[in-house]
Amino acid sequence: MALLIRGGTVVNADARKRADVYIEGDTIKAVGADLEVPSGVEVIDAGGQYVMPGGIDPHTHMQLPFMGTVASEDFFTGTAAGLAGGTTMIIDFVIPAPQQPLMEAYRTWREWAEKACADYSFHVAVTWWGEGVAEDMGTLVTEEGINSFKHFMAYKGAIMAEDEVLYNSFCRARDLGAIVTAHAENGELVYQLQKKLMAEGQTGPEAHPLSRPPAAEGEAANRAARLAEVIGVPLYLVHVSTKDALDEIIRARLAGQRIYGEALAGHLLIDDSVYKHPDFDYAAAHVMSPPFREKRHQDVLWKGLQSGNLQTTATDHCCFCADQKAIGRDDFTKIPNGTAGVEDRLAVLWTHGVRTGRLTMEEFVAATSTNAARIFNIYPRKGRVDVGADADIVVWDPEASKTISAKTHRQNVDFNIFEGMEVTGLASCTISQGKVRYTRGELRVEKGEGRYIKRPAFTR
Ligand code: URP
Ligand code: ZN
Ligand code: ZN
Repeated sequence: MALLIRGGTVVNADARKRADVYIEGDTIKAVGADLEVPSGVEVIDAGGQYVMPGGIDPHTHMQLPFMGTVASEDFFTGTAAGLAGGTTMIIDFVIPAPQQPLMEAYRTWREWAEKACADYSFHVAVTWWGEGVAEDMGTLVTEEGINSFKHFMAYKGAIMAEDEVLYNSFCRARDLGAIVTAHAENGELVYQLQKKLMAEGQTGPEAHPLSRPPAAEGEAANRAARLAEVIGVPLYLVHVSTKDALDEIIRARLAGQRIYGEALAGHLLIDDSVYKHPDFDYAAAHVMSPPFREKRHQDVLWKGLQSGNLQTTATDHCCFCADQKAIGRDDFTKIPNGTAGVEDRLAVLWTHGVRTGRLTMEEFVAATSTNAARIFNIYPRKGRVDVGADADIVVWDPEASKTISAKTHRQNVDFNIFEGMEVTGLASCTISQGKVRYTRGELRVEKGEGRYIKRPAFTR
């Protein structure tokens, strides 16, 4: 099976050029002007369009069991929705319950993910410390291709990692050549504020952001960064939502630390006014952690991306429908935390990043694909349109537009946080493993076509 993408402009993180792209099997075989290819090859006309590495979403939670329910999007529907939006790979999370062996949880998630129709990988969360954890971390790195371990500094009483867990896990990750990642919020402070707000009768979604102030994120970002500094391990902060956390990243980077930050499409564009909406369903649909913030933080996050202090964009795609959100109708602390976005990230970032002049096309590619591939050690196999790379490509029509809506999206959830947003710049064709999986509104996917991608440990 061979494919020629003809007449487009190839955009990588470092350069753009007019070039055809020739694919054989699942690999890019040639990139160049006016390529001569064997007859009978399927041709995709990319005239007037950009040919970019498929998006990598480094933060999703397909079918996550969480807060008394299970996320409605599974690995098949979620990767299909991603392909429709130009995302060809996700990095999801294995999240062991406290005391559950890491390898047991890992095998469960691997089984769930077998139905994926695009490539995927996993970060593994360290939610507790005790016998077997260090050994399982070793097995995961050396045999299973895991090079990143996640730490939830929030969600007390569930999956929160105390400082002792952070210390032990960060040390072990360092010794294994892995990177540590963290959800930075002070979980104790959040817990105490939740109790206080509930006792005061503030039970609705409007209390959610009050229970998770920016300082709680800044404190945890500082703590994670300082631990990583002393221990000597690279750190990646997921869903950086505040100036407070970004300031910590900048401080640590200026001090020479290897520290990275991720921005969510939602945090870049939505503010905390959504929680004041009188309709419970609407406000609850936006409940995620960290919450959407005051507008001033959005500007800071964009500047973080522009300056390179934030390197990646993600979605934290974690879907709960209205009936699931309703679990917390009388108690905001019980509203399942999570929002969707895997289908919309590229279009939203192109519209509000590239079209506004905030990001160049090369910076867009870096922030949506290449930097995630580099940080999680799968570059240049992923994250680059070049000879020898995986043929995971999005053909991008900069003039195509649509209005985002839950009525038309492919995500398996009844709400879209970008509802009504006009986006210009869309995937016209998404190629994964050298095959056209999406073209102009039509998905061509089968369960199980996605591959598990191993990510090697880092060598010094
Ligand atoms: O609210 C969120 N973000 N839900 C998913 C779990 C997490 O914290 O990433
Ligand atoms: Zn999180
Ligand atoms: Zn998450």
